[in-house]
Amino acid sequence: MKILKSISEVRRVVNNNKNKQIGFVPTMGFLHEGHLSLIKKAREENELVFVSIFVNPTQFGENEDLDSYPRDLERDSNLCLNAGVDYIFLPNANEMYGENFSTFVQVDKLREGLCGKSRPVHFNGVCTVVTKLFNIVKPNKAYFGEKDAQQLAIIKRLVKDLNIDVEIIGCPIVREEDGLAKSSRNSYLSERERIEARVLSMGLKKCKALLESGERDVQALKKVIEEEINKAESSKIDYIEIVDSESLQEVETVKNKILVAIAVFIGKTRLIDNFTFEGEK
Ligand code: PAF
Repeated sequence: MKILKSISEVRRVVNNNKNKQIGFVPTMGFLHEGHLSLIKKAREENELVFVSIFVNPTQFGENEDLDSYPRDLERDSNLCLNAGVDYIFLPNANEMYGENFSTFVQVDKLREGLCGKSRPVHFNGVCTVVTKLFNIVKPNKAYFGEKDAQQLAIIKRLVKDLNIDVEIIGCPIVREEDGLAKSSRNSYLSERERIEARVLSMGLKKCKALLESGERDVQALKKVIEEEINKAESSKIDYIEIVDSESLQEVETVKNKILVAIAVFIGKTRLIDNFTFEGEK
């Protein structure tokens, strides 16, 4: 496995391997089993596997956790090595955003709801860096976690709209034993908050059970999640939304495929989780 820090080094490797199928897993590092499941799939389906590790400044708002975002390159490199990664692309901010950088990629509509409401600059930063990474690594397939459901929907739209020749593969959420979705940000939680954080997946589980028992009223479905989350003293709901899984537009009753998505602060840590459900046509 090699660590490449410059765009020109990556381009050289990519040009020397023109006939090989490249799988790409973009990350911000501090890897967990969620990332490793993406890498495993990329390893199974491709000849070369690239992982990028870059804490992308443009996707953090002013009062967000850019500086404190967890980093552990040594651990990440070992995990990548053991998972059979061929190349880590590890640029710094200067390499990615040189002097006078002034071009941003914006996917309208899909970016506006859900996380976009409380993180207005986030998805433009994600779309810009992902477009740049695709242009640098030129992957055949790229792998993203379904935990970031809105990000996944936006990136699918982005590659379609801009004719970027890459197949986007969504991979299932990986969870801790008690149901909490794996996230690099879980490391911010205190012991007590970590226990309380279970309410996110518990709320979703109860909502899913209600859907399976035939409930179709969105308010009733949201209420069961809200009640569960409010059981945790340290919780503050950012949003509980039920939307069409493709357009991400709010729905009033459950038809077609829906996405039930939540964002909740546990103490100061903002966590997200979701599931999809196939309603009747
Ligand atoms: O999901 C992430 O970790 C980031 O948003 C991504 C896709 C690596 C872009 O910085």
